[in-house]
Amino acid sequence: MKIAVLPGDGIGPEIVAQALKVLDVLKRDGIAIEIEQAPIGGAGYDAAGDPLPEATLSLAREADAVLLGAVGGPQYDRLERPLRPEQGLLRIRKALNLFANLRPALLYPEIATASTLKPEVVAGLDLMIVRELTGDVYFGQPRGIEVRNGERVGYNTMIYSESEIRRVARVAFSIALKRSKKLCSVDKANVLECSELWRQVVIDVSKDYPEVELSHMYVDNAAMQLIRNPRQFDVIVTGNIFGDILSDEASMLSGSIGMLPSASLDEHNKGLYEPIHGSAPDIAGRDLANPLATILSLAMMFKYTFDDAATAERIENAVKTVIAQGYRTADIWTPGCTRVSCNQMGDAVVAAM
Ligand code: IPM
Ligand code: MG
Repeated sequence: MKIAVLPGDGIGPEIVAQALKVLDVLKRDGIAIEIEQAPIGGAGYDAAGDPLPEATLSLAREADAVLLGAVGGPQYDRLERPLRPEQGLLRIRKALNLFANLRPALLYPEIATASTLKPEVVAGLDLMIVRELTGDVYFGQPRGIEVRNGERVGYNTMIYSESEIRRVARVAFSIALKRSKKLCSVDKANVLECSELWRQVVIDVSKDYPEVELSHMYVDNAAMQLIRNPRQFDVIVTGNIFGDILSDEASMLSGSIGMLPSASLDEHNKGLYEPIHGSAPDIAGRDLANPLATILSLAMMFKYTFDDAATAERIENAVKTVIAQGYRTADIWTPGCTRVSCNQMGDAVVAAM
């Protein structure tokens, strides 16, 4: 198994270092893993003047899977858009055709009180957001800022082709099949043609999955329902921008954005795995970050790309154990628990394995 490791910026290197400790355990236990690191984001810009250096992209192409930390930082905010760290991430998603972004939101019962929502609202939460990742207003053309009628206008294009909708819908339906067989498609079909087509195609795909109960919800209502009664959802499928927003919202249901992993998959389950949180420049380099989302991303890698459910479970169980043992990084700490650093949390997971 060849894994390309792209730590990125901010807390990226710290959290990825904890995941590497977990990989070391797996190697020691006989799993043949080859690891190679490369810069992306601001680190790519610093190393090669490009947020996605050519060498990084070819490494990612050759690898079976990619583990990514996070990208971005205030020192890069003034670069032209194509040179900004986020472009590295968007370009690698596009270049590797990682159209299906799986973002599970799972609540560990012991940290229910870390959520800003009432424990009884979030208790038992276990949902999966399937976000389309290579289309929509993120990539649509035309886009730009230009002068019209003597003032500047900014514009982007929300666009989806049938085939783009169909392939991500299929992924969502097959995931729903393996879970509670309920799928909610989120759109804005009351206003947007793009969403109108989205809904038609999802309904069409649903004919191949008669066992799955399909529902539809407008995105504004979905944002509200996620807070009101999140457990009504099991699998949600939605476009790129709605999924970006709803997955951040859903992360707070689970107590902290520092807990949530993600997988971005292509047609053949090759994937890029990353925590859904960002590079947190405010705490970077201080050994404070929560590495669990990154470690759980590794678990997803074994599940989805390497088809090794046992190893995925081993990693997930180790995370459950450290939570049960009361270890908490600052973001999920509550009185009575043991506050640990990023490194200590990584070590605790390794010990639990
Ligand atoms: C995410 C992030 C990215 C996105 C940014 C960093 C480009 O917010 O992975 O959700 O918008 O997709
Ligand atoms: Mg986001």
